[in-house]
Amino acid sequence: MSLQATAPAVLPASRVPDSMDAPPLRWGIMGPGWIAGRFTESVQAHTRQMIAAVGSRSRERSQAFADTFGIAAAYGSYGELAAADIDIVYVATPHTSHHSAALAALAAGKHVLIEKPIGINAAQARDIRDKAAAAGLFAAEALWTFFLPKFDAVRQLLDAGALGTLTTVIAEYGEHFEPGHRIFDPMLAGGPLLDLGTYPLALVTAVLGAPDQLRALGIGHPSGVNGQISAAMSFPGGAHAVVNTQLNNFTPTQASLVGTAATLTLDGPFNMPGGFTLSQPDGTSLRYEEPAGAHFEGLHFEAAAVARAIHAGRTSVAERPLEASILTMDVADAIRGQLGITFPGE
Ligand SMILES: NC(=O)c1ccc[n+]([C@@H]2O[C@H](COP(=O)([O-])OP(=O)(O)OC[C@H]3O[C@@H](n4cnc5c(N)ncnc54)[C@H](OP(=O)(O)O)[C@@H]3O)[C@@H](O)[C@H]2O)c1
Repeated sequence: MSLQATAPAVLPASRVPDSMDAPPLRWGIMGPGWIAGRFTESVQAHTRQMIAAVGSRSRERSQAFADTFGIAAAYGSYGELAAADIDIVYVATPHTSHHSAALAALAAGKHVLIEKPIGINAAQARDIRDKAAAAGLFAAEALWTFFLPKFDAVRQLLDAGALGTLTTVIAEYGEHFEPGHRIFDPMLAGGPLLDLGTYPLALVTAVLGAPDQLRALGIGHPSGVNGQISAAMSFPGGAHAVVNTQLNNFTPTQASLVGTAATLTLDGPFNMPGGFTLSQPDGTSLRYEEPAGAHFEGLHFEAAAVARAIHAGRTSVAERPLEASILTMDVADAIRGQLGITFPGE
């Protein structure tokens, strides 16, 4: 991170193009659950991408999803979806089957966009990278935050060294869940780490890289999954990061990047569309305005970016390269290692 004595006079504008400009792909939805519905409605409203097919473990559920969203083809198995006449599979199954679902799609010659987390551990993430590379196909993790217009402005500020030397990143994400949610199911790799903690860990590692020290605290939830994690990390050069994630209740979901020249605070929830403030030690500040929004307003950016990358012949996307997804999972694995948390099949 380069040194700069003062923060800029004006904030950079986002360079993220209109999602309508992205050339279309034929998408297949694998796992017609909650996020699949949000992705489909956002993509249908804001892009020219074609949601061409949906696959479920049940023919009835895929047909119901197809009827809701006007999708032409509905399949009663993931294998049939992977073999369908589509360009790319959007994997929206629970974490525990991201790896197998992605491999099935790649084996059928389809590009893949995989919901976060890309797998349950770094070994799965590396295997997806290797299988995609061997097949010459596109693969990326659908970490939608990094595709939002505000993040392009954040990235420009970081690249220009506008925060000075980055010393501290603080990020947290907690949410309330109704009983019966899959986050309480140990067999689905439940607990906050993979559902929510992915975001703070992805932010910390995207900004600071790989930690050289990590200390984690955890406490269980009565359901049998982990209920809360706090982690502190240090990085080569001396920066620190502090992360908290838990499933007991909503938090502001805040994130701050602290540098010697300026502090950048993302409006909460930081993982969704919204603005940020760049504050300087003299008390002045600059505001980046982005309308606050949720999945409908934000998920289409990742689909458009992926479509542009694939049409350009690329097998990865700059906003979320596979190496970045692997690093996030490496840190999640290190946290679990200290807390003795294992997931099914490990
Ligand atoms: N980007 C975001 O903001 C965001 C938000 C929420 C979730 N997510 C991610 O998206 C993934 C799915 O989350 P979700 O909340 O959409 O889950 P969900 O509502 O439970 O849907 C998951 C779907 O996967 C299928 N599935 C396959 N194997 C399953 C199993 N063993 N148990 C249950 N369902 C199974 C089910 O469809 P069929 O049985 O019909 O095939 C189900 O509808 C998670 O990895 C999560 O981290 C991302």
